[in-house]
Amino acid sequence: MFRPVRHPAIPARGLEPVAERIIMANVVVVGAQWGDEGKGKIVDWLSERADVIARFQGGHNAGHTLVVDGKVYKLNALPSGVVRGGKLSVIGNGVVLDPWHLVREIAAIREQGVTITPETLMIAENTPLILPIHGELDRAREEAASKGTKIGTTGRGIGPAYEDKVGRRSVRVADLADDATLVARVDRALQHHDPLRRGLGIAPVDRDALIAQLREIAPQILPYAAPVWKVLNEKRRAGKRILFEGAQGALLDIDFGTYPFVTSSNVIAGQAATGVGLGPGAINYVLGIVKAYTTRVGEGPFPTELDDADGNRLGTRGHEFGTVTGRKRRCGWFDACLVRQTCATSGVNGIALTKLDVLDGFDTLKICVGYDLDGARLDYLPTAAEQQARCTPVYEEMPGWSQSTEGARSWAELPAEAIKYVRRVEELIGCPVALLSTSPEREDTILVTDPFAD
Ligand code: GDP
Ligand code: IMO
Ligand code: MG
Repeated sequence: MFRPVRHPAIPARGLEPVAERIIMANVVVVGAQWGDEGKGKIVDWLSERADVIARFQGGHNAGHTLVVDGKVYKLNALPSGVVRGGKLSVIGNGVVLDPWHLVREIAAIREQGVTITPETLMIAENTPLILPIHGELDRAREEAASKGTKIGTTGRGIGPAYEDKVGRRSVRVADLADDATLVARVDRALQHHDPLRRGLGIAPVDRDALIAQLREIAPQILPYAAPVWKVLNEKRRAGKRILFEGAQGALLDIDFGTYPFVTSSNVIAGQAATGVGLGPGAINYVLGIVKAYTTRVGEGPFPTELDDADGNRLGTRGHEFGTVTGRKRRCGWFDACLVRQTCATSGVNGIALTKLDVLDGFDTLKICVGYDLDGARLDYLPTAAEQQARCTPVYEEMPGWSQSTEGARSWAELPAEAIKYVRRVEELIGCPVALLSTSPEREDTILVTDPFAD
């Protein structure tokens, strides 16, 4: 363990060095493909071992489904830890928050018997809000986009809300507490948005109606507002375990994804600390969530995409329809080359391999081990979009298995070919399997290495 060295010339002041007292591990969960890897299920499973579950990026473009004793919970903005109860759920400053959606989501999840109070849910005061104008702009741009420039966004205003954040014109959670500030912030945002809307043929914003909407929602959001950076630093000092819940997947990362067909935030593990206000040393273990095959919703390159009976079989067996938009997810073989890359950009220590059961019954399975580009063999996906589109996958084949792995809770229940497939995935991505998931149900999970173990 790291031990801070005190310079001999500096007298001790009776302060106990922080690092000496931090014995608990904190775990970051990130998607290692194009999202929908099963992060919600794994975060819910791991949350038993955590004290705090924190979202650090993205917004209600996320759709995380968990199944507990047959009961299905669908979450967008709320951390997947809320379902367990007795944990602190946190929405960090790295998130963009639609307050109206959150209030509806809280009501829906309470209907399912989950308790949510200001003691169990905290929202960072410096979280930027997604306003109705962001969704309108997002959808208008997508409608106006020509073939090749359409992103296939969720239409929930994520991109425009992040643009306003870096453009320094967001309305943030803390602004809801002071009416004069709120009005000034709205006016600043509209100076930017009205000309944009004119260009897209959308009516100007009804300023008074927007302010009225914000005044109405404010009392429903403010009870949850908190200096999250302070609370989490204190929790950390007290030895509490924090589970960071990523949304989307590394290939949708604004910097390292298949740009411009990406989301508008950093989703890789390095964002976890920034997205809540902790230092980078707070992260002890990065768990990459990896689907045993590949899916993608929306536009953009996808080297191993299948447009045939195998692709349809994956989609049907895997119920591959988007939680947020209901769109059919594109399906393809496992791309070890891409996952090796995303494990590197997130510093993944171990993976949770999910949906192994969906591969049951295939005679042969293919794994992409590299790409061919103009006759040259590549072991990573190049950055230029034009080259990405021209990369053809190089496959290795493995025998499938006919037995069912669905619901397996131990290695002993898995056929030898399934174990060989898992081992080959580990070898090719250069990262060990820490958890294996064999159905949507919480307990249908095989633990290999506990990410929270010191
Ligand atoms: P997330 O966005 O990463 O949380 O993933 P989603 O919830 O959008 O999509 C994953 C889907 O697969 C959900 O419907 C889960 O219930 C389901 N799922 C998770 N793990 C498994 C698994 O091991 N096997 C099967 N068959 N389904 C799973
Ligand atoms: P979870 O957390 C899969 C995709 C959209 C689109 C692109 C940009 O459930 O894994 P955006 O609305 O973010 O501007 O859309 O990103 N996308 C996701 N795909 N899972 C997600 O989240 C996604 N969130 C965004 O389909 O291609
Ligand atoms: Mg999802």
